[in-house]
Amino acid sequence: MTMTIRKRLTALPQIGWFLGQQYVTRLVDRYVHRQSREEAVLAFVLAQATRGSPQSVLQAMDLFARRRRWLQNVGPRKGAILMQALRDAQARRVLEIGSYCGYSATLMGEYLAGCGGQLTAIELSRRNAAVATRIVEHAGLAAVVSFRRGTLESEIGALGAPFDAVFLDHWKDVYLPDLRRLEDAGLLRPGTVVVADNVGFFDVPDYLDHVRHSGRYRSRFERASVEYQDALEDGVEVSVFTG
Ligand SMILES: C[S@@+](CC[C@H](N)C(=O)[O-])C[C@H]1O[C@@H](n2cnc3c(N)ncnc32)[C@H](O)[C@@H]1O
Repeated sequence: MTMTIRKRLTALPQIGWFLGQQYVTRLVDRYVHRQSREEAVLAFVLAQATRGSPQSVLQAMDLFARRRRWLQNVGPRKGAILMQALRDAQARRVLEIGSYCGYSATLMGEYLAGCGGQLTAIELSRRNAAVATRIVEHAGLAAVVSFRRGTLESEIGALGAPFDAVFLDHWKDVYLPDLRRLEDAGLLRPGTVVVADNVGFFDVPDYLDHVRHSGRYRSRFERASVEYQDALEDGVEVSVFTG
């Protein structure tokens, strides 16, 4: 039995409880609140967070995710790993794929605002992109973060020069195809850091094999837990492109 399967079996009760909880919450969202959780977190942030303060926005989103309804944000623990990778790479030009409600865009945007950098954020869902745009505006970061609604495939022609850092946090089956798209388009340069979320929870063997064994990256795994679920193991792959 492989380690991954053994780990999954051990964590089965927690995973089952978590998924069950998510299912019930979804029903409550639909039939009781009659509001999606994304609309609910937007209303919460607008009401609770100080306008122009990224930290206050992040705290409000963390509070909402822990106390009200779970959110698929990168969260504080993995967020700290992401930010360390950006600082190590002295990143100024950053690309994010998968923005959800704008948590990671706010986190990276605050850092980029302090060093004259820019974040381009690609989000597939129209509703999530609209929520993320309003949350980032509330944080005072509209001038630093540009959202593009679509996929890397649809937006790649407009992205321009290579990035210093890329954050992959969308659907896991497109991590590798999108990484290859970035390589082929010359959007990575030696030293670009690519941070991939959730690789300790979801199975992404093709992606991990590529960054660990293609000879084109120096790659390491940073252990963490699933956002706002301390008992569920997760992790982030931090890979520096070598050319
Ligand atoms: C895990 S969430 C992103 C969380 C966000 N990075 C954060 O930490 O706040 C994944 C998001 O990826 C989006 N998505 C899924 N497939 C995508 C794709 N091919 N391109 C862009 N976004 C995608 C989903 O709509 C969803 O909003």
